[in-house]
Amino acid sequence: MKSLEDIKLRAQKDISAAKDAQQLFNVEKKYLGRKGELTLVLKQVKDLSAEEKRTMGKQANELQKELEQLLSVQRRVLAEGSGAAADLSLPALKQEKGSVHPLMAMQQRIEDIFLQMGYEILYGPEIEKAKYNFDLLNIPEKHPSRDVWDTFYVSAPAPSGSGGQGAAKKSGPETPLLRTHISPMQIRVMEERKPPIRFISPGRVFRHEATDATHEANYFYNEGLVIEKGISFGDMLGTLDVFFKALFGDDVETRAQPSFFPFVEPGAEVLMKGSKGWMEMLGCGMVHPKVLKNMGVDPKEYSGFAFGMGIDRLMMYYNDVRDIRSSYQGDLRFLKQF
Ligand code: FA5
Repeated sequence: MKSLEDIKLRAQKDISAAKDAQQLFNVEKKYLGRKGELTLVLKQVKDLSAEEKRTMGKQANELQKELEQLLSVQRRVLAEGSGAAADLSLPALKQEKGSVHPLMAMQQRIEDIFLQMGYEILYGPEIEKAKYNFDLLNIPEKHPSRDVWDTFYVSAPAPSGSGGQGAAKKSGPETPLLRTHISPMQIRVMEERKPPIRFISPGRVFRHEATDATHEANYFYNEGLVIEKGISFGDMLGTLDVFFKALFGDDVETRAQPSFFPFVEPGAEVLMKGSKGWMEMLGCGMVHPKVLKNMGVDPKEYSGFAFGMGIDRLMMYYNDVRDIRSSYQGDLRFLKQF
């Protein structure tokens, strides 16, 4: 019986010396073919003593596996090196081209319009602290939106900001939660900055609610804040009118109707009239004096306005999408239309 070590050394040499598929096939046949050297050894194992059978059998099987592996590596090396695997007459593989998601495309349009109006774009954290999402925005402890039925509370630590780590207690100001709007950025930004300021803050928000064609539990939102000397309600309405005309065309009309948000006074909803009639598009108002104080801004010196709009609904109007949930299902039949 030939020594396994001898077979191994010669086989390794022969495999790496093979220059093409035919030579490699011959090497395979020489060692692993029906009458191959290693095959013969394996056949003889059955005639050995029980002790030898165990050791020899094991070693021979291992060598067989090793040679098969070397052969497959060399086969790949030869195929790549010679170009034998590439048939240039075959038609090219179709390249799937991706596209920007319609929600991101809408967010980019919104950013572009506000950039042109001199706004900065500042992004905030999705995990927020209760004090930024509620307390400092003048949303009182007992407000229904704080309820666990409306807000997702999380047990992860909230991001840094003034005042340490988030506590697990639901009601504390440090309690971490998934932001339900991006109005908390009003406070976060003003902790760092002084007026005059104009910025928007787009991103994802979360609300604990049952979904339907116009409501999602996780959707995209854009907050805006302007604080300057002598800013008026008229400046706000004018800005928002310019925004909607820039987005949907000069034909659209806007109007405001009174509404209530604890962090503005007066508060309003802006409606837009396009081809589909009047539609409520956003919430807005003059920044409440208490909130200006929470920002460290003197309400006697400065005034400002804020607004918050749902990006999904703008996108749906823009693209004539009927169900808000289409954006989140990853269905290529939907996505390929954009
Ligand atoms: C707010 O969240 C206020 N923070 C807006 C605001 C900012 C007012 C600054 C005053 C000053 P509201 O809960 O209405 O407001 O939500 C804002 C917008 O988000 C709505 O106009 C609507 O377009 C959109 N929206 C609300 N709930 C959902 C939902 N479940 N799915 C999709 N879009 C929603």
